[in-house]
Amino acid sequence: MTDQMMADRITSHLDEESRKSYRICVMDEMTSTNTVLKQMASDGAPTGTVLIACRQTGGRGRLGRAFHSPDGGLYMSILVRPEIAPADALLLTTSTAVACAEAIDTVCGYRDMDSLKRAKIKWVNDIYVNEKKVCGILAESVFSVDGSRLSHAVIGIGINLIKPTEGFPSSIAATADALFSAHDAVFDDAGPLLAAQILFRMRRHLLCPCRDHIEEYRARSFLTGRRVAVHPRGSLGDAGERIASVLGIDDAFGLIVRYENGDEAIVRSGEVILQEDGTAQLGASPVHIK
Ligand code: BTN
Repeated sequence: MTDQMMADRITSHLDEESRKSYRICVMDEMTSTNTVLKQMASDGAPTGTVLIACRQTGGRGRLGRAFHSPDGGLYMSILVRPEIAPADALLLTTSTAVACAEAIDTVCGYRDMDSLKRAKIKWVNDIYVNEKKVCGILAESVFSVDGSRLSHAVIGIGINLIKPTEGFPSSIAATADALFSAHDAVFDDAGPLLAAQILFRMRRHLLCPCRDHIEEYRARSFLTGRRVAVHPRGSLGDAGERIASVLGIDDAFGLIVRYENGDEAIVRSGEVILQEDGTAQLGASPVHIK
């Protein structure tokens, strides 16, 4: 499929309002759709500009990590200029996570609420299907010089559509998966369909993301009721690692945890790693703390 054909296919799956809201540009290869779109944003690109690549040579993930981006994935970035306070910038990540999870369920036909295959959100920005990561989100915000408002944000989404022919790199092989096998009938149109489903769901966030996705985010929480290692500074193996059970998601999308000594805390940044056996062992049952 040529780049223009892919852009046309995405547009054909969009409703009228969404067609007016987005300017979609597809390219075979980019360094990083987020990096290129951030440059375009500072050069004045309009809200709703969407960059899509079929592979990235310098894909970036959260916490400064590389994001493996070979052929067989959907790599998409969206430029938004929402009217929100800097403190609410996390809403961009969480609302995108809900949009991606719902889009994946729709395109893949996952309907059963309790199914392992239903798309889950691993706090704060990863989508898991069948206990494996299939999608990551990197929202990068730029603030006004005095820091009082959000100037714009680039929201990047990377989805593994099919497994790379050479397999995933060993560092992620145990935790990563793809949505389709190359033989799946739906696969041919899966990229355009998923892109359109996500863009459709994200349209209202172009203007003003609110908190109304909190219940869906909670309902899809991958970690609630499970045992994790909390790394407050995000570096794996750092001295600050603490084992905890996850109690839920608070109203500001923080992760509510109970450490082994019984202390409860809200994790707002850093990294949380699911422990091998996965289930909570600290007598925790999922709660919603308001
Ligand atoms: C993560 O898993 O930590 C987030 C990964 C985000 C990857 C997407 S792919 C499109 C966009 N361009 C990038 O370089 N990163 C994001």
